[in-house]
Amino acid sequence: MTSFKRHTVTAALPYANGGLHIGHIAGCYLPADIYVRYLRLKGRDVVFICGSDEHGVPITIRARKENSTPQEIVDKYHSLMKRTFEEFGIAFSIYSRTSSPVHHKTASDFFLKLYDKGVFTESVTEQYYDEKVGQFLADRYITGTCPNCGNPNAYGDQCERCGTSLSPLDLKDPVSALSGEKPVLRATKNWFLPLDKLQPQIEAYINSHPDWKPNVFGQCKSWLNQGLQPRAMTRDLDWGVKVPLPDAEGKVLYVWFDAPIGYISATKELTKDWEKYWKDKETRLVHFIGKDNIVFHCIIFPGMLMSEGEYILPDNVPANEFLNLEGEKISTSRNWAVWVHEYLEEFPGKQDVLRYVLCANAPETKDNDFTWKDFQTRNNSELVAILGNFVHRTNILTKKYFDGKVPAALEYEKSDLFLMEELSRYPKKIADAIETFHFREALAELMNLARMGNKYLADNEPWKAFATNPKRVQTVLNISLQICANLSVLMRPFMPFTSDKLCHLLNIAPLNWDAAGKTDMLHEGHQLGEPTMLFEKIEDEPIQKQIDKLRQLSVISNQSSVNPQKPTITFEDFEKMDIRVGTIVAAEKVKGADKLLKLTVNTGIDVRTVVSGIAKYHSPEDIVGKQVSLLVNLAPRKLKGIESQGMILMAENADGKLIFVAPTDSNAENGSIVK
Ligand code: MF3
Ligand code: ZN
Repeated sequence: MTSFKRHTVTAALPYANGGLHIGHIAGCYLPADIYVRYLRLKGRDVVFICGSDEHGVPITIRARKENSTPQEIVDKYHSLMKRTFEEFGIAFSIYSRTSSPVHHKTASDFFLKLYDKGVFTESVTEQYYDEKVGQFLADRYITGTCPNCGNPNAYGDQCERCGTSLSPLDLKDPVSALSGEKPVLRATKNWFLPLDKLQPQIEAYINSHPDWKPNVFGQCKSWLNQGLQPRAMTRDLDWGVKVPLPDAEGKVLYVWFDAPIGYISATKELTKDWEKYWKDKETRLVHFIGKDNIVFHCIIFPGMLMSEGEYILPDNVPANEFLNLEGEKISTSRNWAVWVHEYLEEFPGKQDVLRYVLCANAPETKDNDFTWKDFQTRNNSELVAILGNFVHRTNILTKKYFDGKVPAALEYEKSDLFLMEELSRYPKKIADAIETFHFREALAELMNLARMGNKYLADNEPWKAFATNPKRVQTVLNISLQICANLSVLMRPFMPFTSDKLCHLLNIAPLNWDAAGKTDMLHEGHQLGEPTMLFEKIEDEPIQKQIDKLRQLSVISNQSSVNPQKPTITFEDFEKMDIRVGTIVAAEKVKGADKLLKLTVNTGIDVRTVVSGIAKYHSPEDIVGKQVSLLVNLAPRKLKGIESQGMILMAENADGKLIFVAPTDSNAENGSIVK
């Protein structure tokens, strides 16, 4: 990376159809921000580009949901996100939006250039059409069953459960998201990027980057192995950048064509020197994204850039995996999320606590979990007890013994020299980790430095030594203060607000990265500022409040997807059902039926066969030995030639997942009546 003259760093343009939650931040914006802040501290030439993605079906769907217009939706969420980023300390050089005139022109010209070069293939294909609404159903306007994992709520462009990228024709039992109707196929003309023809070029490009994160490189390889297919770059929609051709009435650019060009448009808006950030081989282009964006940034966008011909290609695409919340997938529709704008209101001044926790626990190599308890623990036993405590003790002692002036280091002992040697290695250690996108590791090293400071104080006990050896205390506190000054620099990419506080406390202006590693950062006699606490303890109460809020909100927003109550029945009606506790004693897959399991159940009355449609959610080996509730007097029926003599009770949640309704008490005996 040192061989590059400048950097263009982008963070995925978030759809302006909602707020920002911790998953967005941990996945892409925080690592990008850390990286850029570090580069700036190194004095590098860098632009940090982002903005709202205001086109595509996610926007129009949201508008329908909120009974609003697409324009109102993007205006509302663009300003919310812009403000959230600012307040959270994500320091973009520019935060633009794809509705800007510069962007419309840039995207349109880009398309025309490819068109004029003859890059696109024009073809008429059958696309789903909703006859009731009178509209083509692109991407998320169509839902259906995922051919890969059976998720009944997969979208026309992607299954969010298994992550597979789809096209509408892949879906089983497609349904229009607009009307709920079964769509029909209708012919329409679109312009395709011939990724099949570009495959050799794209393959060579990917192969020249074995240094990419394994999750990213692996996904690219698997796309290439499947063989790239031509992909439509236009859509029959009325919201987006109009296709700049005479015979393209009612068509707009595919959102994944226009959005990444948004990075270029925003750079144009930022500086008239924009070309050097996009066309000079000495510029390093880095895209920070979440893992669901990999194919677009590593294959399709590079394919577009190559076809255009003048642009540099992404040099790295450090995509993160997903962050879960309290053990479950973050879901905006279920309101299972921590919204950053709400956090900022509820934990004022604590941006860095969340930045710290999200970085320390970032889903860099695998999906990870955020829990409020972990948030509290990391604050109290890491930020407060290690980092805050070290800085505070150093300051208080300096104030107490030396009037808040930096004492001179008089004579270094062996242990001092050893520590100074260690200290000198930290800037590089942390820098190396940041430069290779190992942000968790970088942050862990930062905390190790604070730990080292704490240990140094504990070993030297200046509060005891002062009575007998005040000279020694001068040296010890000088060194401790130098560590504080180092921390103020090295923490800055991760915790900029705290770094400001610490600079204030040390009464110094923020320093550059290369100033760190030394023990002459603060001069003898330098007057420190007033001691204040960098962090404060977080009690149980606000944490419990967050947990409760999460559960309540998610229940409320779930109710819309709950089926309505059935008509009333009498007790006699209920009494007709004979439900018993039983134990599954054997289970096997039913050949030729991917949904069915053949179960052998000890009902207490007998041992019988039950065929159950749960194979998608439960594997035979996991359920043998399990106690279940089953309806034993249901008329037997044959499934795939096997007679099923009863029915296991299951709870079906909104996305079709089946969960056992089983006795939770292990004392239940087989054959007990459920009533
Ligand atoms: N809006 C997309 C998403 O939220 C990301 C767009 S990134 C860009 O998944 F490259 F297209 F800008
Ligand atoms: Zn799937």
